[in-house]
Amino acid sequence: MARTDGGADDSEGHDDAVEAAFAAVASVAPEIRAGLPGRRTKGDETNPSGEHQLAADTYADDLLLEAMEGVDGVGTYASEERTKVIDVDEDGFGDGLSAAIDPLDGSSNLKPNNTMGTILALYDAPLPAQGADLVGAAYVLYGPITTMITARDGRVTECVVEDGSRREIREDVTLPDDPSVYGFGGRVPDWTRDFAAYVEQVEADPSMKLRYGGAMIGDINQVLTYGGVFAYPALQSAERGKLRLQFEGNPIGYIVECAGGSSSDGERSLLDVEATDLHQRVPVYVGNDDLIDLLEETLD
Ligand code: F6P
Repeated sequence: MARTDGGADDSEGHDDAVEAAFAAVASVAPEIRAGLPGRRTKGDETNPSGEHQLAADTYADDLLLEAMEGVDGVGTYASEERTKVIDVDEDGFGDGLSAAIDPLDGSSNLKPNNTMGTILALYDAPLPAQGADLVGAAYVLYGPITTMITARDGRVTECVVEDGSRREIREDVTLPDDPSVYGFGGRVPDWTRDFAAYVEQVEADPSMKLRYGGAMIGDINQVLTYGGVFAYPALQSAERGKLRLQFEGNPIGYIVECAGGSSSDGERSLLDVEATDLHQRVPVYVGNDDLIDLLEETLD
């Protein structure tokens, strides 16, 4: 389901801060990318969700924290790699927007040298915040080239990141009308009966092809490029699925809705899901309207 206001809350009054935060993430993207070789092994530490951290996860997190500390109008920083929210405004009072970052989404793809990304969510509310409080969201995709998608005020833009700056390559990115890709996470035997019934319907359409890469950002970028649906569903063993609301579900729901698509947790737009905990999980379904409507009907 898409929110009636298109999921794109007005960022008026925060324009400079949103733009500066996008620029700050772009500025460190080349350094993050350049630091990946040599940081591909897992350490002993786990993140707040209990996953083993790679040296690359904490390396990217440190660089992004430093970058956000320099952004006027951003008051707090939270990341998937840290338990607590950190004040980053000059006075140390945490005044300003809340930045929630997944420093390296899909970092298990580092070992086999596949795509990964950095996700940024900017909330005009203290964390944990509802997706409806987002005033901007973005992601960097470390693919064969480094690209960045930014979303604000109902518009999505695609840039190439070169030397830490953005060069626009596509304005007004919207989901193509004829969807052709789908990617669903979770072990197939662990899917619920209703979700399996949905998958059957999607696969019955001969124009739909499977595209699942193990990094949400890479899979989402395929949906934005070709149209289709991405899901990390509720599982029999994990009814809240795997992905994190503050760092993954909300920003991706916001970006897809700004691009004219829909997002859902199975019942409602991801942007309407109540925020209860910084690291809470949420089932994620995003894509073309018809495919998300069908999903909600089938899971009902
Ligand atoms: O955030 C975790 C993540 O790496 C996502 O980027 C990705 O969609 C998912 O986990 C992959 O999980 P799995 O290994 O279960 O397919």
